[in-house]
Amino acid sequence: MASLKGKDILHGNQFTKKDIDTIIQNAAQFEKELKKKDSLSLLKGKVLATLFFEPSTRTRLSFETAMQRLGGSVISMASAESSSAAKGETVADTARTVSQYADVIVIRHPRIGSAKEAADAADVPVINAGDGAGQHPTQALLDVYTIYKELGSLKKLSVSMVGDLKNGRTVHALVELLALFGAKLYFVSPSLLKMPEEITLRLKEKGIEIIETEDLLEAAFGSDLLYVTRIQKERFTDPTEYERVKGSYVVDQKFLDSVKKKLTIMHPLPRVDEINPEIDTYPGAAYFRQVRNGVFVRMALLAMVLGKR
Ligand code: NCD
Repeated sequence: MASLKGKDILHGNQFTKKDIDTIIQNAAQFEKELKKKDSLSLLKGKVLATLFFEPSTRTRLSFETAMQRLGGSVISMASAESSSAAKGETVADTARTVSQYADVIVIRHPRIGSAKEAADAADVPVINAGDGAGQHPTQALLDVYTIYKELGSLKKLSVSMVGDLKNGRTVHALVELLALFGAKLYFVSPSLLKMPEEITLRLKEKGIEIIETEDLLEAAFGSDLLYVTRIQKERFTDPTEYERVKGSYVVDQKFLDSVKKKLTIMHPLPRVDEINPEIDTYPGAAYFRQVRNGVFVRMALLAMVLGKR
């Protein structure tokens, strides 16, 4: 079994195939156990601190749920305004301070590299819940758990990543994990929002087939899975640029009818207008199952970094 004991979780590229297998196995185990019981006592006495310097619904609440379902407890800082960050404290000092209270820290912050700074300063494992337009590795892990459950395998998938590939930290992390299993990837975005070249080149070096296109229909014909993302409005410095690209892609019933085959549709959420709620009952629409899977994967990660799995 791969061990994450005492480790930080910062970047999609830190995992091996074996790590992913172990995380999936542990998540599946917790999912099974929660069918029998409301909560477990594996992390009784342990404290999780969640430090969120950016808005969040799912990531923070699912980590907090995961900790409580494992019998642990949670301390939480839900906004920068309510903490000493408002007085000018550095991320490093905040993380070092909080690591005197908690056994594990989950942090979200608008700046790329901030989670690494927190991890270097803290005396306990730090989990990156999103560092600006950088990485979001725990989302990527719950995404692969969902893909595994929905499609039965992670091997040689053909996946379309759709939307804001430039600023989307979920896709930046997810491609690292899919690359371990030899995927074919369609990158579907307006030219303004293309996947950073540094990532595309590295994937190609690993032998991953990449097709960059603006045509969602073409990509959908060649894919098993559409991973749709929100245009990240908060990352734009020029509002007119956002106006130019907003609403670029919409997955709705008309679109599904024109594809004429079953697709699995995922989205990290929140959605704005890129998935029409009219398709929420489509059997392949997996995004709310994805939300639920997040709890089991985060239970697995908390148990593993704390050395209990
Ligand atoms: C994503 C995020 O915060 O990066 N949300 C999430 O964690 N599920 C995606 C987004 O905000 O668009």
